Amino acid sequence: MISTDLNLAEKLLRNNELVAIPTETVYGLAGNALSEEAVAQIFAVKNRPTFDPLIVHSDSLAKIKNFVLEFPPKALLLAEKFWAGSLTLLLPKKPIIPDLVTAGLPTVAVRIPKHFLTLQLLQRLEFPLAAPSANPFGYISPTTAQHVAEQLGEKIPLILDGGSCSVGVESTIVGFEGEKTIIYRLGGVSVEAIENLIGKVEVKTHSTSNPLAPGSLESHYAPTKKLFLGNLQEILERYSPQDIGTLVFRKPIPNIYPENQLILSEQGSFTEAAKNLFAMLRKLDKMPVKVIWAELLPEKDLGRAINDRLRRASAKR
Ligand code: TXA
Ligand code: MG
Repeated sequence: MISTDLNLAEKLLRNNELVAIPTETVYGLAGNALSEEAVAQIFAVKNRPTFDPLIVHSDSLAKIKNFVLEFPPKALLLAEKFWAGSLTLLLPKKPIIPDLVTAGLPTVAVRIPKHFLTLQLLQRLEFPLAAPSANPFGYISPTTAQHVAEQLGEKIPLILDGGSCSVGVESTIVGFEGEKTIIYRLGGVSVEAIENLIGKVEVKTHSTSNPLAPGSLESHYAPTKKLFLGNLQEILERYSPQDIGTLVFRKPIPNIYPENQLILSEQGSFTEAAKNLFAMLRKLDKMPVKVIWAELLPEKDLGRAINDRLRRASAKR
């Protein structure tokens, strides 16, 4: 059921059931983070491997301090500047956070999302919410309640409707290794914004076989149809024009049918492009085209996070 009923959401969560919640980045599939029973259901409903840890959501720094052993000075600076918002911090966990949440890792991922409905819900609860993106593992993340309903509607009792997500790509994940600050996933807060505040950081978003930050798995955020990047000419030689759909940044490509082309932002705004990204990928996945070609954006600001998602969506499965 899709609804805005906070009372029902609260009741279900207290009862160890799952609720899809809106955030400014993407919709999350939420359950009581302190309950192994609820957390186990999250993995089951999403079909998510248990080696891939979850983000813990709360509404205040004071509450989050109950879940982590320490808050390094740089983490505090980042939290004060970007929370509530699209930043996730990896910090050493206290035992109260179940190992299932962190996939056995000594750190827990924490964030305060910026969405009025979800913040109200979190304020009512004395426990935090574990919430991965509310999509089946590997598929495109949902940015509306309808997206969640299309894929998980039958499996969960409630999708809390908070409209379209205002940011549209997942949070930026930041951790600390000794003196170094490391970005493990590019996201809604740009590298530039982080470096303006705390100086140079390292970006380590490459996938490994046993990934530390597995939105960094090579194939992820992917549509069902094959997604190509790069040389469009090769695609035009292999497929007829009516079979190709495109996702372009500012303007359509001359040799492709106009009705098969979706434009991320005519004004060339990265913010608007990020907000449209996943919804447009879903739309292309449903259109009567055989393959999708996407244009990469300039490698700066949110353009980097968008390109990261496009590359993973096009990776071999
Ligand atoms: O914007 C977001 O972050 C959304 C909304 C719902 O908050 N959530 C989200 O969750 O994107 P999910 O589960 O789709 O992605 C979480 C990422 C995964 O790649 C996971 O591996 C990484 O965070 N992660 C979580 N805990 C971690 C930890 N302790 N160490 C390293 N990576 C961690
Ligand atoms: Mg995800």
